[in-house]
Amino acid sequence: MTKKKILLIITGGIAAYKSLDLIRKFREQECDITCILTKAGSEFVTPLSVESLSENKVYTDLFNLTDEHQMGHIQLSRMADVVLVSPATANIISKAAHGISDDLASTVLKATNKPVIIAPAMNVQMWLNESTQRNIKTLKNDGINFIGPENGSMACGEYGEGRLSETDKIVEETIDFIETYYSQPLKDLSAIVTAGPTQEMIDPIRFISNESSGKQGYVIASRLSQLGAKTTLISGPTHIEPPANCNLIKVRSANEMLNACENNLPSDIAVCAAAVGDFKVDKFNNEKIKKTGDNLNLELSENVDILKSIGTRNSKRPKLVIGFAAETNNLIDNATKKLNSKGSDWIIANDVSGGKVIGKNHNEICLISNRGIENWPKMTKSDVAKKLSQKIVNYFSH
Ligand code: CTP
Repeated sequence: MTKKKILLIITGGIAAYKSLDLIRKFREQECDITCILTKAGSEFVTPLSVESLSENKVYTDLFNLTDEHQMGHIQLSRMADVVLVSPATANIISKAAHGISDDLASTVLKATNKPVIIAPAMNVQMWLNESTQRNIKTLKNDGINFIGPENGSMACGEYGEGRLSETDKIVEETIDFIETYYSQPLKDLSAIVTAGPTQEMIDPIRFISNESSGKQGYVIASRLSQLGAKTTLISGPTHIEPPANCNLIKVRSANEMLNACENNLPSDIAVCAAAVGDFKVDKFNNEKIKKTGDNLNLELSENVDILKSIGTRNSKRPKLVIGFAAETNNLIDNATKKLNSKGSDWIIANDVSGGKVIGKNHNEICLISNRGIENWPKMTKSDVAKKLSQKIVNYFSH
């Protein structure tokens, strides 16, 4: 395998001191690192230490004739597999969001034809500042990728979001990004992913729903899309940011979710991660239901089962249909019944008792198929998405 090439832009925040460790760890992973150090960055780390650790020339100045002769800003922006900005200050983030290019780092960010990853690091208030959040949104829409920031204590003594991700995480995610971006193992395939809760309206202002956050489905959709699958995310109402590069269809009721799924068939892969409401109100009240001093009885009927209707289709059935099973007891038995009754190829069974999964960032699942049961250790929902997607890649490459 050829060495992965990373162009690392180090900007001027206190977290810049961590870039020396970052360079060392990338080198341990056989990566080739070339660094750009901004003027403010060189207040925190010296060009000499960066150059010694990277064993490559360090670039600092846009108007340095020798540098421009050896490797101009255009060439610099072309030579890497990925451009990583770490740490990225609020300043470089706002310059990138507004297309300002007044030094070598910001000019390279504008000139590059390679993917860009930004690892922000700043004080919590600077991170939460509306202009920073606006800029982040703009950059995400422009297809820029982010690692972190994290919650934690800061050099300034405050605590909150804005801390640079750990160097191990930055190295791991950058390498993983390069591998998936350039291999695109699912590039010829399409996927639909359902996520989040559904809402079944009772009257114009009331509905029946559940506590699903949509996190697991969103990270699965995001990962499938990163691996090259043309991904449609069909989501009930959630409060989380939609992943980039997915076609997002927002729905409310189970019926709307089913229609959106059917409209997006044929598809090679279907992942039903939504917590679809099992019941809907028989008769929607056009006007707000008034109190009468008496009990209110609502007639509920069963909703359509979306997974089952996809898994048991005669035509346009996706080649791989994956469902979830949320259980509070008899996990394997109940999930295996769902595998068979819903015509799915795999069921991801999770024990949702005691509020330990819904809305949380971690999941501990069993993958059940006709080939047997795999127990996965407790991991983040994002790691579940990675592991599941890798299994999907393997499934289609055999
Ligand atoms: N599912 C669906 N449509 C429904 C109900 C569930 O597509 N109306 C899907 C879910 O997205 C999930 C799987 O079926 O992939 C299992 O959902 P779960 O809530 O665990 O089970 P239910 O089928 O609702 O059965 P029960 O609530 O009785 O356990």
